Amino acid sequence: MRHRVDFLVLGSGAAGLSFALQVAEYGSVAVITKQSAVESNTTYAQGGIAAVMDSADSIETHVQDTLRAGAGLCDESVVRVIIEEGPQQIRQLVDGGATFSSESGKLHLGREGGHTANRIVHAADATGKVIELSLLERVKKHANIQLCEYHFAVELLTNHHLGQHVSKVRPDIDCFGAYVYHIESDRVDTWLAKVTMLATGGAGQVYLHTTNPGVATGDGVAMAYRAKARIANMEFVQFHPTSLYHEDARSFLISEAVRGEGAYLLNGAGHRFMPDYDSRAELAPRDVVARAIDDQLKARGENHVWLDITHRPAELIHSRFPNISAKCLEYGIDITKDHIPVVPAAHYFCGGVHTDVDGRTSINRLMASGEVACTGLHGANRLASNSLLEALVVGKRSAKTSIGVASDNTFSEDVPDWDDSSTENPAEWILISHNRDELRRVMWDYVGIVRSELRLERAARRTRFLFEETEAFYRKSKVSAGLCELRNMIAVAYLVVQSAAIRRESRGLHYMTDYPEMVEKEGRLTLI
Ligand code: FAD
Ligand code: SIN
Repeated sequence: MRHRVDFLVLGSGAAGLSFALQVAEYGSVAVITKQSAVESNTTYAQGGIAAVMDSADSIETHVQDTLRAGAGLCDESVVRVIIEEGPQQIRQLVDGGATFSSESGKLHLGREGGHTANRIVHAADATGKVIELSLLERVKKHANIQLCEYHFAVELLTNHHLGQHVSKVRPDIDCFGAYVYHIESDRVDTWLAKVTMLATGGAGQVYLHTTNPGVATGDGVAMAYRAKARIANMEFVQFHPTSLYHEDARSFLISEAVRGEGAYLLNGAGHRFMPDYDSRAELAPRDVVARAIDDQLKARGENHVWLDITHRPAELIHSRFPNISAKCLEYGIDITKDHIPVVPAAHYFCGGVHTDVDGRTSINRLMASGEVACTGLHGANRLASNSLLEALVVGKRSAKTSIGVASDNTFSEDVPDWDDSSTENPAEWILISHNRDELRRVMWDYVGIVRSELRLERAARRTRFLFEETEAFYRKSKVSAGLCELRNMIAVAYLVVQSAAIRRESRGLHYMTDYPEMVEKEGRLTLI
């Protein structure tokens, strides 16, 4: 089947929905999302959105905190634009129906690592859910937007699909829409668009342990890479220091805001170890805290460390962290009395599809926003709670750009429909789950918090094999969501390993035992 929309939005998190709402005033919009619309990293965001909302704070200190965390790789002009637009963005969310925690009629502002002021606007400990639901409600009501759940974007349509040879990044590639697999009817449709917005989020699932939900398989970065878009800084993977360590708990985050309220990190001997590593102790930036925990675990041969907030009043803990308290209680942990077992887990990809601050990628008519993109805001390490802000600000700015692009373009009817005549339903599905598990373990063991050339070489060899085996399988098989995700995860793994191998230094989130220092001349983007 063929569909035509002015704006094709891939992904229904903060980035995709905020973009859709803006462009819907100027044309028809389809939001394509591979599961239920609410399933996204946005929905699981806990801590909040960083924005300067207090007269004791300033744009300049937020900018400086962001630049410091980014370890020399932020694009300062992008940082300034996004941070300056923060307060206005918060006001628009409130006007759009989002309710944030307040105290005496003023927004309550939390604190997180790397910030030198209280500036985290939050809705208790479920900020993302409040934002996602308020955006989604407006999207569902909008007459110009069709929301297509259980639709899986498989491939971006470019000049390649017109039979032209496209072997590398070049300025004359156009995006004409996407092939989208309609899961229910088991059919791949052609969606033609004047502008395509890639808002498919992150890729935490590439690692064995992650805070991300199952949808975060890096599909957007992989599709853009195959379409020959410029990809940047994929080595900078942020590991959140504190995900819940419990055999029955998958991917549950214990927000940094808990440390912001004064929680301590203790090792198995009950020693508060963070002051031994950094004067900012538990509120040092995430890379510092995650590495310190990794060091403690390796030195002491333990599986987890402990987070202790029991010294804070029980009422405060319950009102500030109702969801975290309730979730921990499900596992028999009363956080007002018990220490919480925690470990680091893959959390956020600072790299992605290279864009400017208005969401333009290196491919014409293809925009990208949110975690899939690399605008230059985060550099080598993202400051906590800056990503929701980025998704919303860039979502809005790219909408402005896209309206002009859409009016200058028409649908490219020459794109052929999907052809799967020489494929069949595979007999050996086990390959998909086996290779997915193996990939995630390889990435965790060899491309994690602490890396070395030897580990990266091992990872490169193993991912190469998984790539060859999976591609051979893909070529003869009918499309399925699981198979597409596996291909995409392998592509992301390849990009992370290659980018990590190129960077011969330690900077921000990328720590190499062979090159433990930061090297001035390496202070550039890694572009693939
Ligand atoms: P997402 O919200 O992940 O949305 C991506 C969408 O794309 C999803 O709907 C997904 O299903 C869809 N999709 C993916 N692939 C396809 C495909 N092939 N076809 C169709 N649809 C597809 N950031 C903060 O700033 N503050 C926080 O407090 C915070 N807390 C966090 C807590 C957790 C547990 C996690 C996981 C992240 C947190 N983050 C936080 C990061 C932040 O949530 C994300 O970076 C941000 O929400 C990304 O928004 P997005 O719209 O780019 O992507
Ligand atoms: C958290 O609540 O700790 C997550 C904040 C973030 O990832 O920005």
